Amino acid sequence: MQTLIKHILHATEAASGITVKGWVRTRRDSKGFSFLELNDGSSLANLQVVVDAGVHGFDQIAHFTTGASAVVEGKLVASPAQGQKWELYATRLELIGLADATYPLQKKGHTAEFLRTIAHLRPRSNLYGAVFRVRSKLAFAVHEFFQSRDFVYVQTPIITASDCEGAGEMFRVTTLKGKPGDQPQADFFGRPTYLTVSGQLEGETFACALSNIYTFGPTFRAENSNTARHAAEFWMIEPEMAFCDLQGDMDLGEEFIKAMARYALEHCAEDLALFVKFVDKGLNDRLQFLLDRPFVRVPYTEAIQILNTSGKKFEFPVSYGQNLQSEHERFLTEEHFKSPASIYNYPREIKPFYMRLNDDQKTVAAMDVLVPGIGEVIGGAQREERHGQLLENMKAHKLNEQDYWWYSDLRKYGTVPHAGFGLGFERLLMFLTGIPNIRDVIPFPRTPGNAEF
Ligand code: 4AD
Ligand code: MG
Repeated sequence: MQTLIKHILHATEAASGITVKGWVRTRRDSKGFSFLELNDGSSLANLQVVVDAGVHGFDQIAHFTTGASAVVEGKLVASPAQGQKWELYATRLELIGLADATYPLQKKGHTAEFLRTIAHLRPRSNLYGAVFRVRSKLAFAVHEFFQSRDFVYVQTPIITASDCEGAGEMFRVTTLKGKPGDQPQADFFGRPTYLTVSGQLEGETFACALSNIYTFGPTFRAENSNTARHAAEFWMIEPEMAFCDLQGDMDLGEEFIKAMARYALEHCAEDLALFVKFVDKGLNDRLQFLLDRPFVRVPYTEAIQILNTSGKKFEFPVSYGQNLQSEHERFLTEEHFKSPASIYNYPREIKPFYMRLNDDQKTVAAMDVLVPGIGEVIGGAQREERHGQLLENMKAHKLNEQDYWWYSDLRKYGTVPHAGFGLGFERLLMFLTGIPNIRDVIPFPRTPGNAEF
């Protein structure tokens, strides 16, 4: 029976008959014995294995090179070495798979850029092992957060015929040869279909039946933007709440981000310590700071005033009616408020058709949550629940009513005020780990020109 190294390292007493399976990180040879550092991915820390020359399998010790896989049986004994409580005193060694000198992870300290070129091996490095353990823990925390609040998990479709965001950034899904635009009726679904940019529209239908729901799944955007925070394929979490307004939506967004930070601090301490050491010295302080106070909330109009009177030179000009650029978002949260901030009530022209028109007839009940280091992590809104107004919004956005008949139907049959948001899981992970590039928090990043693995 195999024991995971993380359990061994937390053992409370010595034991014999222990079996570990993993990959050799390093080997040091002395006269009459060798040390192996073994890692199985269950924790950042390696297990030190001491192998005496007489041990069964020692004749192969020269092949236990960095990257090789091995099974070791032995006794767990208190380690005399500093910084580790336990070491394994081997009684039997078995080499499983060789790794020769071309194994690319020989040395420590490779760049993120280089490691992206070996995305199939990078999870074996300390940093990426930590990143993907944290990602797994946080995915679980997402479900726990919503399930414990009685939100129902809904799996919305990946193939869809509607462009939720109206930004035209969709990947076409087709089985047609040649130009798929020519005869969509002949295509597999008898209409043009795409990879989803958001599960929101379908999510709303379920919220208008089950009250509170959330989605958590892959999302696709054919944005040709090569930035550190955009990916063509990412994971989005989208809660949707019936009988809820914009305030309630902002409350949930704030509560959710705080809960994720708390979870990471409590459940991923060892891995976070690595990020503090090598990626972001201020990480723990930043997360603690976030937990200690409410997010700033300001209307878009006020955010524009702050930017305009900041005296700061921006690459993109600031003016009412324009979308906030990343540099504006980061100025607000990093330099001005020095805190996460929820910006709400945006001009209707720059937001999608589904957002609720405010009484001023100029703004919609939208909200974006901005965090230091990243900018926008959440985009959400109270939805337009009035049938007539929704149809007008569609007209203003030049959308075809018929395409959204089922969505409008929700407003005809028992309509309710409702609100929700979308949070990019990778952006959340960037925020919680300090990792500055989205390509390094998703196992196999999809960006323009890049889908190798
Ligand atoms: O602001 P967005 O476009 O909002 C929506 O899609 C809404 N339908 C969500 C809703 O209300 N249910 O996207 C939501 C979030 C962004 O704030 C960002 O965190 C993330 O999704 N996101 C991306 N993450 C990585 N790469 C991209 N290309 C992203 N585009 C959006
Ligand atoms: Mg947005």
